[in-house]
Amino acid sequence: MRFDVFSLFPESLLPYLKSSILKRAAQQGLIEVRLHNIRHWATNRHRMTDDVPYGGGSGMVMKPEPIFAAVEGVLGTPPNGPVILMTPQGRPFTQRVAAELAQHPRLALLCGHYEGVDERVRAHLVTDEISIGDYVLTGGELAALVVIDAVSRLTPGVLGAEDGAQNDSHATGLLEYPHYTRPAEFRSWRVPDVLLSGNHARIAHWRQEQALKRTRERRPDLLDESQQQTTYK
Ligand code: ADE
Repeated sequence: MRFDVFSLFPESLLPYLKSSILKRAAQQGLIEVRLHNIRHWATNRHRMTDDVPYGGGSGMVMKPEPIFAAVEGVLGTPPNGPVILMTPQGRPFTQRVAAELAQHPRLALLCGHYEGVDERVRAHLVTDEISIGDYVLTGGELAALVVIDAVSRLTPGVLGAEDGAQNDSHATGLLEYPHYTRPAEFRSWRVPDVLLSGNHARIAHWRQEQALKRTRERRPDLLDESQQQTTYK
């Protein structure tokens, strides 16, 4: 999976990309993240990437020329693969959207800043718009990292265990069941007996019950969405 990120502050993504699972995935060649600074494609005297809005109003708008030049310079004309604008106006990012995006070999993520991008970028360059939630960030960089992280862990080989992502919260349509590890008793709080029983059928049944209970209590909206039957291995 290859990601091309277009941003005015591409270095802000580096610390996270250089940590933990994403770092290992990149070292193994399972993912490749290329960071592109839109400012490098600005040709005006001061390398300006934003300007005042036509019609007046507060805030600056990202200019179209450097964004088109950057994306087309890296991905060709027309760009090869999805070009996704990170914006609070986009479609909500969910596990299902992550799975859909993971089917592509290559994704371009465009990070907005200031009041947003010139509408011609949305209309004629971008093929998809994604929001990571109903709140406004200072820029799209954190949102791009969220997408890279969620899509990367669905990329074959990135998670250690073969079925690492299959039983995740949301992947099944339900929240995940509770997990326990040793010790069996900690400050007098005991691990549920069923998990120590060695009876795999009972354990699977208990986990499924717990997942349903948890989803009913915390996210009943998910139950309405997914009437699908789920079984844990
Ligand atoms: N840029 C600013 N806020 C955002 C959000 N909620 N999702 C995606 N991109 C954003």
